Amino acid sequence: MTKTITGFSKLNKKEKIDWLIHTFLSQNQQAKTILQCYWNGNKELQQLHDEFIENTISNFYLPYAVAPNFIINNKPYVIPMTTEESSVVAAASLVAKFWSDKGGFKTEVLSTTKSGQVHFMFNHDFENLQHYFTKIKPKLLETTASITKNMRYRGGGILDIQLINKTDKLDNYYQLHVTFNTIDSMGANFINSCLEAIAKAFKEESQDFDIEIVMSILSNYIPDCLVKAEVSCEISELGENGIEFAQKFYQAVQIAQVEPYRAVTHNKGIMNGIDAVVIATGNDFRAVEAGAHAFASKTGYYKSLTNCSIDNGIFKFWIEIPLALGTVGGLTALHPLAKLSLEILQNPSAKELMQIVAVAGLAQNFAALKALTTTGIQKGHMKMHLQNMLNQLGATTEEKIALLNYFNNNPVSYNAVSEALEKFRVTKLLK
Ligand code: MEV
Repeated sequence: MTKTITGFSKLNKKEKIDWLIHTFLSQNQQAKTILQCYWNGNKELQQLHDEFIENTISNFYLPYAVAPNFIINNKPYVIPMTTEESSVVAAASLVAKFWSDKGGFKTEVLSTTKSGQVHFMFNHDFENLQHYFTKIKPKLLETTASITKNMRYRGGGILDIQLINKTDKLDNYYQLHVTFNTIDSMGANFINSCLEAIAKAFKEESQDFDIEIVMSILSNYIPDCLVKAEVSCEISELGENGIEFAQKFYQAVQIAQVEPYRAVTHNKGIMNGIDAVVIATGNDFRAVEAGAHAFASKTGYYKSLTNCSIDNGIFKFWIEIPLALGTVGGLTALHPLAKLSLEILQNPSAKELMQIVAVAGLAQNFAALKALTTTGIQKGHMKMHLQNMLNQLGATTEEKIALLNYFNNNPVSYNAVSEALEKFRVTKLLK
C-alpha cells in the first residue's frame, strides 16, 4: 500500500483523518476519538484555529495559567503563561511574591532597532557599487513609501539602509543592511515586504551593473532590540543564611558565564519563563529563542544571559536580553486567548511587553538557581511532576489524595511513586 498522497491539502478534515488513520493508525482504535475530542464545539472558534495553518486535523492543548503578584516598576501584574513544564508557573508565582516586598522588579528598554538584509552578489569594482548605492538610496526609501506609510504615522519605519561589503567572508558577497523601528508590531511581515521592495528597486535600477539578488529577509538576530530587568536588595533581606545564599547564587551565575555546558541549561531555564509568556501573548517563540541564544554567544563564547553582583551588602541580579515582540498584528489580534493575555497585562505596548517578558525570564532563573544552590532542583521539580506521574499510572482520585499526602515527606521518583501506588492498592485489597 502506498503511504504517500497527492492533493492531501485539498481533502476536507474528515477525509484527511480517514486517510491518516487508514494509512498509519489502523491499529489504534482510539485515534479518531482522540483527534475529535480536542475539536472545539464552537464551530466559529474551531474554524479560526483550522485556518491558522494548513492541514489542521485537531487542536493541541497546552495549559494556560497565570502567575500573580509581580511588581514591575511599582506596578502590579498578573502574568499569563502557557507551558507544559510542571514547575514553571509555581516558580514564577513564588519568585514574584518573594520580590514583591523587596521593591519588585525594575526594568528598562535599552533599544528597539530591528534589521533585515538584502543579500546579493556583485563581482565588479566596490567603489562603483558604492557610488551607485549613494545615488539610488533615496529611491530605495521612496519605493517603500506606501508600505511604510502607516508605520511612519505611528512613529516608526525604516531607520537607515547601509551597503555592507562582506567579500572578506565570501567572494562577491554584499548586503543592504536595513534597520527598522516597528513600534508595537513584531514587524516580520513589514520588514520582509520592505526588503523585497528595496531589492526589486535595487536590481531594476542597476542596468549597467551585474547585481544578483540572492535573498531578502529579516534577521532574528536583534542585539539592538534590548531590554534589561533587575532585582536587588540588601543581603540581610535574603533570609537567615543571606550571605551564604548570595555567595553561592553569585558563583552559580559566574559558572554559567564561563562554562557553556552550564550556560545552555541556565539559559534554557530563563527561556522556560520567557517562552511561556511569549506563547500566551501569541508571539513568535522561535524568533525569540533564536535571537536570545545568538545574543548569548555574541562574544564568540556562549554565556549566561543573566548577571549577578554583590557590592556593599547589596545583592543584585539582572538580565539583558533581545526580544522582538508585538502587541498588535499577527496572532495577537486573532487568537482570543492571546488577546485576553494582553488584556490581563493591561494592554501593554510592545516595549512594556518586552519588560514583562524579561521579568518572567529573570524570575524563572532566580527560582532555578535558588533551588539548585540550596535544596537541589529535584525536590520541587519532582513534587510538581508527581501529579503527572499519578495520571500516567492511572491513579484514581482517592489514590491521588493518599499519595500526594504520602509524598509530602518522601522523595519522589517514578519508581517510588509506582511502588507506593502498588502498595496502596494491595493494602486496600487486603482490608
Ligand atoms: C529545567 O527546565 C530548567 C533548569 O534545568 C534550569 C537550570 O538548570 O538553571 C532547572
